[in-house]
Amino acid sequence: MSMKILAGGSLGVFGLAILASVLFSTPAHTQEPAKKTADQATTDEGKKIYDKYCAWCHGEKGAGDGPGATYQIPRPRDFTSGAYKFRFTPSGDPPLDEDIFKSVAEGFPGTSMPPWKHALTEKQMWAVVHYIKTFSDAFKDAKPKKIEIAKRISPSKESIEKGAKLYKDLKCWECHGDEGRGDGPSAKDLKDDWGNPIRATDLTQPWTFRGGSSHMDIFRNFTTGLNGTPMPSYADTNSDEDRWHLANYVRSMAPEKDPSAATLISSAPIKGPIPDDPESAAWKTAREGFLPFMPQIVEEPRHFTPMVTAAFVRSLYNDNEIAFLIRWSDPTESKDGAAVDAFAIQFPAREGEAGTKPYFLDGDEENPVMLWLWKQGAAGAVELLGKGLKATGPNPKAGTFTKTVASYNKGEYKLLVKYSLKDRPKGTVSFAPGAFIPVALQVWDGGNGEEGPKKGVTTWTWFTLEKPTPVSVYLYTVLAVVGAVVAQGWIVRRVRRS
Ligand code: HEC
Ligand code: HEC
Repeated sequence: MSMKILAGGSLGVFGLAILASVLFSTPAHTQEPAKKTADQATTDEGKKIYDKYCAWCHGEKGAGDGPGATYQIPRPRDFTSGAYKFRFTPSGDPPLDEDIFKSVAEGFPGTSMPPWKHALTEKQMWAVVHYIKTFSDAFKDAKPKKIEIAKRISPSKESIEKGAKLYKDLKCWECHGDEGRGDGPSAKDLKDDWGNPIRATDLTQPWTFRGGSSHMDIFRNFTTGLNGTPMPSYADTNSDEDRWHLANYVRSMAPEKDPSAATLISSAPIKGPIPDDPESAAWKTAREGFLPFMPQIVEEPRHFTPMVTAAFVRSLYNDNEIAFLIRWSDPTESKDGAAVDAFAIQFPAREGEAGTKPYFLDGDEENPVMLWLWKQGAAGAVELLGKGLKATGPNPKAGTFTKTVASYNKGEYKLLVKYSLKDRPKGTVSFAPGAFIPVALQVWDGGNGEEGPKKGVTTWTWFTLEKPTPVSVYLYTVLAVVGAVVAQGWIVRRVRRS
């Protein structure tokens, strides 16, 4: 679960801190009967819970202005208007009690809103639901009606094609981009009803959807719209069938199964030159690892709202070079100005004992890191030596990049770097096949004002060059087969003879 939140990328320090305190301190799982009536005792109990757990983000009076709210995108909800995003009620209507309960229990991946079911009992969650309703007049005498979910249309090729056409015709791309990466022409200036900046969701990463990533969840959101946001309802303008086609199309933009964070990135050996073309067969067949970014919130200046949520990494090597092909979503291509798009791959600078990992934010004096940095506009990648966030500079023992190819297309970067394995200086990482080397990534979205320590980071994970399958393995296999055949023949002959 916590991985899912991290995968969203923008979990702030508040979220982390609160999630940690919630997950590790409160003994909460005693099952009590759910309480759904909003009597005085319940709302009183709800207030206590709210003041303790929720006010920090949502504000004492529910206006979404708690001390922890400042740096967050999306901002904690302002409960005073009664506008809730994720509901089973028509566009503009207040939510059902069950809708609010579900949001409180499950939280929202990719935001600081934790899943409270790990910390609060059902009864406590119901109490706080009834209490937050008191912040808004919208619930007075309201009898929200539950929408019907129309019969599902299965995600056939035909349905997905119809959905693709609707995506064009209904101008979803104006916000979400041609290929769904949140890079549409209107995406930059979107604001929610409270005047806060809001991002058009990257539809290729459904694991960051807050309203859920199933076909039904998506259909539901097209039906209800997300109150308080630019994301409209299509219930009045389009048929149920249309909305199912759209849901099928949106779901087809992403792999069926959500990726999980890689614990090992492996580089596959290839014979002959490593292709420069990311679309070539060798790259297509290389295994891809998924690494989610976290905001750099450890050191000043901290950055609470990084844009890039994750990167996908592949690697190949031959006798001469090692190469990485990395892709990530970024809604804006930022080439000039103070902050430009950039990416870094980080390794320990020294050939360490197995298991030693330097400090993950650019290392330190004792355990420096080697940073391969690519920046928009630069001729190629460069190698830096990191001895801390504010102490990175050129690496006197830098190796040689034999190729850097970067492309940006419809909200996605592809970066290919090749690095010479010849004549590695003594004591530096040698990239010997079979060795386990820590690797970490860093990313900057210039369009989001990211530069220097303001960046997205991953923690260390392992990287290894797969050993080429030695000839002896084949030889033994052949011998084993031959042996089995011979033995079988011998047994058959014995059996016949007896
Ligand atoms: C660390 C900050 C944080 C804390 C603490 C927090 N929330 Fe939230 N909450 C958020 C954020 C951010 C959102 C907005 C998510 C979005 O817009 O997708 C949110 C949204 C919500 C929503 C809106 C759902 C909707 O459909 O619009 C509800 C309800 C909610 N929170 C209830 C609570 C309750 C109850 C508590 C305490 C038990 C709580 N939150 C504590 C950050 C927080
Ligand atoms: C005017 C801009 C705009 C248009 C047009 C628009 N969207 Fe959105 N959409 C948004 C924004 C903004 C959000 C994110 C809301 C949030 O952060 O809570 C969103 C969210 C979503 C989500 C994710 C909801 C979740 O659970 O997190 C999906 C899926 C989606 N839109 C699909 C579509 C499709 C398909 C269309 C066209 C039929 C469309 N959108 C049209 C702005 C737009």
